[in-house]
Amino acid sequence: MIECVYCNERYDDNEIVYNCKKCGSVLEVLIDVDISKDVFECRKNTLWKYKEFMPVDETKIVSLDEGGTPFCKCDKLAKELGIELYVKVEGSNPTGSFKDRGMSVGITKTLELGVDTVGCASTGNTSASLAAYAARASLRCVVLLPSGKVALGKLAQAMFHGAEVLSVNGNFDEALEMITQLALEKHLYLLNSINPYRLEGQKSIGFEIIHELGWESPDRIILPVGNAGNISAIWKGITEFYNAGYMKEKPMMTGIQAEGASPIVNAFRKNSREIIPVENPETVATAIRIGAPVSSIKALGAIYDSDGYSETVTDDEILIAQKEFAQKEGIGVEPASAASIAGLKKLVNVGEIDKGEKVVCVVTGHLLKDPEIAIDACVKPIKIDANAEKLRSILLKR
Ligand code: F0G
Repeated sequence: MIECVYCNERYDDNEIVYNCKKCGSVLEVLIDVDISKDVFECRKNTLWKYKEFMPVDETKIVSLDEGGTPFCKCDKLAKELGIELYVKVEGSNPTGSFKDRGMSVGITKTLELGVDTVGCASTGNTSASLAAYAARASLRCVVLLPSGKVALGKLAQAMFHGAEVLSVNGNFDEALEMITQLALEKHLYLLNSINPYRLEGQKSIGFEIIHELGWESPDRIILPVGNAGNISAIWKGITEFYNAGYMKEKPMMTGIQAEGASPIVNAFRKNSREIIPVENPETVATAIRIGAPVSSIKALGAIYDSDGYSETVTDDEILIAQKEFAQKEGIGVEPASAASIAGLKKLVNVGEIDKGEKVVCVVTGHLLKDPEIAIDACVKPIKIDANAEKLRSILLKR
């Protein structure tokens, strides 16, 4: 069953519906699982390890072995901040971002529904992932990207996997509105995070964090927030594990946004659940350059219900955190992902995060997604002739 999160109107599993027809709010898939957590122990380490929690036909699974991503303890940064820190490295998914989890489930649902065309609007990663999974499932794929605002690696992926790529003269929010209209006219199945099945895949990030920590909750999970699907999905997963009796506590969900694209933080600061869209969102972290997040009601619910927090970071804070993290911990992430690290530092500095807290940061996409940002942040390579004498003179100068 699919249920409206606002008015609780219900829809059949096989009805293609993105918003509640009664009140217009967002939907979620209802899950009822009653199994022992021991069944997960000996399975292959992908998101399908938790297949009982994935509401799709198991015989139709489309997978690239997504999920099971690294969970790295980051002691250097932790020591500086006086906390215990783990990082969930989502850039290690098949197309380099957490979106693969959602697409595996979303594309499986597409096959179940018998639809032959899928589509999305995207700041980049969703389109890269959808293009790959649609290729694997032999589906037609149409992606809408805000012109000039998509990082090079992501664009290359969408194009190379054979999607029909349309460059929209407008921002992400406008592109999403356009493609939603076509989806409502049934020309394609929409796989943005408004689609409740996509979020079912993404809740596995929450499952893996809890499982990795020995069925215990961290004090806090921090992640970047754009269209607000991921924080909602992780919270749904955590709540399902909690309700299944697998864990005793729940983490404080902490959403970080870029200062120029922060409608969720603005609502949080007013203790409100209502979003005032940011008209012209702008940030160097193009993945989260979003002014009207579709899952804001779920995201704010996750933050309030978990006694969590929401904060902004500036573009400078993002870029500094991205570089420090790469050079201190050896983990290369794209700017949007570094927002969670920048947010962590800020919240420790202002005293919102207590000393000794056990924190998990979700870093959502790989460094190579945005190579131009990475190159711009570094000194250029030194040019040198193919000559050992030259090399010696350079090395010994240091
Ligand atoms: N981090 C990265 C790397 C992303 O690509 C996104 C979203 C987010 C964080 C935010 O996640 O939207 O669930 O709150 N990217 C989308 C896209 C919008 O089109 O690729 P969210």
